Amino acid sequence: MTEQPSNPGGGVDTPLDPSSPDLSGRTALVTGAAGGIGRACTLRLAAAGATVRAVDRDEHGLAELTGQVAGLNGTVEPQVLDLTDLDAAERAAEGVDVLVNNAGIQLVRPVHEFPPEVFHTVLTVMLEAPFRLIRGALPHMYGQGWGRIINVSSVHGLRASAFKSAYVSAKHGLEGLSKTVALEGAPHGVTSNCVNPGYVRTPLVEKQITDQAAVHGIPEDRVVSEILLRDTAVKRLIEPAEVAETVAFLCGPAAATITGSSYVMDGGWTAH
Ligand SMILES: NC(=O)c1ccc[n+]([C@@H]2O[C@H](COP(=O)([O-])OP(=O)(O)OC[C@H]3O[C@@H](n4cnc5c(N)ncnc54)[C@H](O)[C@@H]3O)[C@@H](O)[C@H]2O)c1
Repeated sequence: MTEQPSNPGGGVDTPLDPSSPDLSGRTALVTGAAGGIGRACTLRLAAAGATVRAVDRDEHGLAELTGQVAGLNGTVEPQVLDLTDLDAAERAAEGVDVLVNNAGIQLVRPVHEFPPEVFHTVLTVMLEAPFRLIRGALPHMYGQGWGRIINVSSVHGLRASAFKSAYVSAKHGLEGLSKTVALEGAPHGVTSNCVNPGYVRTPLVEKQITDQAAVHGIPEDRVVSEILLRDTAVKRLIEPAEVAETVAFLCGPAAATITGSSYVMDGGWTAH
């Protein structure tokens, strides 16, 4: 058996060409902007020249993010907002050219023990809020004949895992919403796509690694390869910057005919 290189297949942790696509003059909105993937998307779109409304309920995380934007072509405008306030979410998206629905939460619990109120909250934040944000964003996009909607879904938008009923339900719903918006938006120059990562190196996942290492009594690198990436051909975590790179690509001119798609970046997980 050949030894797996530590970073099989290479990968990026910095933008390939930060100024591409050229989003100067464009306004973007990213939800969950204080977190791992949302933060990377915010910085990537700002590097491409966009003015980015960075939406999150985590005020402290947003403050940290705005400390990182010096030297980028665009700007970042933090907005503290809890997306369970659906009316405020819809208003926040008015006038944007690019919308990245990214905020997400997870609870791992068997269906028969899953708290109904948590199921409701997960669906609200991860499906109903994206609907309301899209609803708020579309009139401006339709008016100018151009818009880009990118929904950060997951492998769990396409496959189920035990104990993740709310998350899997929300992501499958997001896939349907994204495709419907693609059909309606096409005559108006608006594309709508999902990006579907496997496990991404974010604080959420780092914590799972530490916890699982302690529970199983094995080193953290074995947690990654033997537990998290058991069904994944490429045995490394995806970097947030790689997801952000795909999001940026979907905003660019080469992606104008890509719509209603689900862009899987899972190291081969769903190839099984
Ligand atoms: N990390 C992974 O392995 C992975 C894999 C596939 C898909 N995803 C998806 O990527 C997205 C981002 O995940 P992440 O790993 O960066 O998570 P994260 O926990 O690091 O970030 C999520 C962000 O969403 C914000 N948020 C949560 N609920 C909110 C609410 N009600 N209102 C406003 N903001 C809220 C949080 O404050 C946080 O900043 C999620 O939709 C997740 O499902 C993550």
